[in-house]
Amino acid sequence: MNKILKFVLNGDPMEIACESNVALIDLIRDHLGLTGTKKGCEEGECGACTVLFDGNPINSCLALAHEINGHEIITVEGIAKDGELHPLQKEFIKRWAFQCGYCTPGMVMSAKALLDKNQNPTEYDVREAISGNLCRCTGYVKYVEAILAVAADMRKEAKV
Ligand code: FES
Ligand code: FES
Repeated sequence: MNKILKFVLNGDPMEIACESNVALIDLIRDHLGLTGTKKGCEEGECGACTVLFDGNPINSCLALAHEINGHEIITVEGIAKDGELHPLQKEFIKRWAFQCGYCTPGMVMSAKALLDKNQNPTEYDVREAISGNLCRCTGYVKYVEAILAVAADMRKEAKV
């Protein structure tokens, strides 16, 4: 069934007609043209498709597009501000946290969801937050270090 979906995408109100059998990842990539969100396993195992749904990370391959009606979605394209990359993106680049980079958008979104709620995470918290994000290049250590470094910077800034 075709339905008009009303939602907020990366801070902007959106309205789009969509069939009921369309997966959220397909709406994001194919209908909205936001290809930063990656398609990996398409069965909820790799986290490459992670987006924020009302601030919480979800696998967009497992959600139906119709579920976002009335909600807020943030994709990796929506986290830069005024043309400046998000601190997590900058730190991932600075530390060469990624190798092929396919997992990186999902990793950024899971890490952002964590730091939005907890700016003083333990290493365990970080590892748990990205536990649904599979890195095929197996470079988890640098990601964890980068996320902890950004959290430390955020705490410093909050004190200023
Ligand atoms: S593509 Fe969605 S979890 Fe792998
Ligand atoms: S950097 Fe290649 S999949 Fe993670």
